[in-house]
Amino acid sequence: MRTVWLNGEFLPETEAKVPIFDRGLLFAQGVYEVTPVIDGHFCNWPHHSARLTRSMALARITDDTDWPPILDELIRRNGLTEGRIYLQVTGGAPADRDFLSPVEPVPATRFAFTQAAAVVDQPKAQEGMRIVLHPEGRWALRSAKTTQLLYAVLAKEAAREAGADDAWLVDDGMVTEGTSANAHIIDSRGVLVSHPVDHGVLPGISRLSVLPLARDMGLTVEERAFSVGELFAAREAFITSATTVVMPVVEVDGRAIGDGRPGPLTGELRQRYIGRLR
Ligand code: PDD
Repeated sequence: MRTVWLNGEFLPETEAKVPIFDRGLLFAQGVYEVTPVIDGHFCNWPHHSARLTRSMALARITDDTDWPPILDELIRRNGLTEGRIYLQVTGGAPADRDFLSPVEPVPATRFAFTQAAAVVDQPKAQEGMRIVLHPEGRWALRSAKTTQLLYAVLAKEAAREAGADDAWLVDDGMVTEGTSANAHIIDSRGVLVSHPVDHGVLPGISRLSVLPLARDMGLTVEERAFSVGELFAAREAFITSATTVVMPVVEVDGRAIGDGRPGPLTGELRQRYIGRLR
């Protein structure tokens, strides 16, 4: 059984309990982070920490937990070498349900757990992913990494029903991002096109790390939204996230992207990024 961390205590996972009045449960007033774990260490902490601070400010959650020693200890206690860490901070559990946060603040609810998973050797990185397009219907403050994930769950289920691996969300003919990953193309000119960081997408830490690596490879990078038409004309497409690192997309709505195989530039970016994470 895993050891998890909740509000200052390391506990067996079955003993970690949260009250039903928690504002994370009742109002989705919760923010979270996921970091990759490779070779027994969690990656990119300064960026995850900065985004957590921004997400908390947007969601009006106050907390000053010192996470790194907790996460190190969680990895150690669970003997984790590869996978991820999930941590969440919610608005806490007042005595009763009320839309407004309590005037006398209650402590934030904080928890973290590990998940063992392959990060470096993922079979999909050889095969490539199949994607379906789905209308963008998530809320307007997508830059905060909140737990308001119902729409992402519905879009992922629509993808599974269509026999695909995931969905990319489309707003007025333009691709925003994946349900839990940033979306990118190498367009017909060989330019890497990636949605800009605004409130329309989650500012991915993996994206932040990968774009400079692409520039190092001599690629031109344009940070702007791309259309569905550009996607279908693209040479390569890929996603980035803490869980998939860099993962090729080979098919969208049943149509091949490029030659329908994982693209060479995507493969090179994946190798370079994994090399940097180690
Ligand atoms: N999701 N966009 C969305 C909507 C996401 O949920 C994520 C991450 C990303 C990529 O961000 P990063 O590179 O920092 O992982 C983009 C995590 C992995 C999850 O929900 O499990």
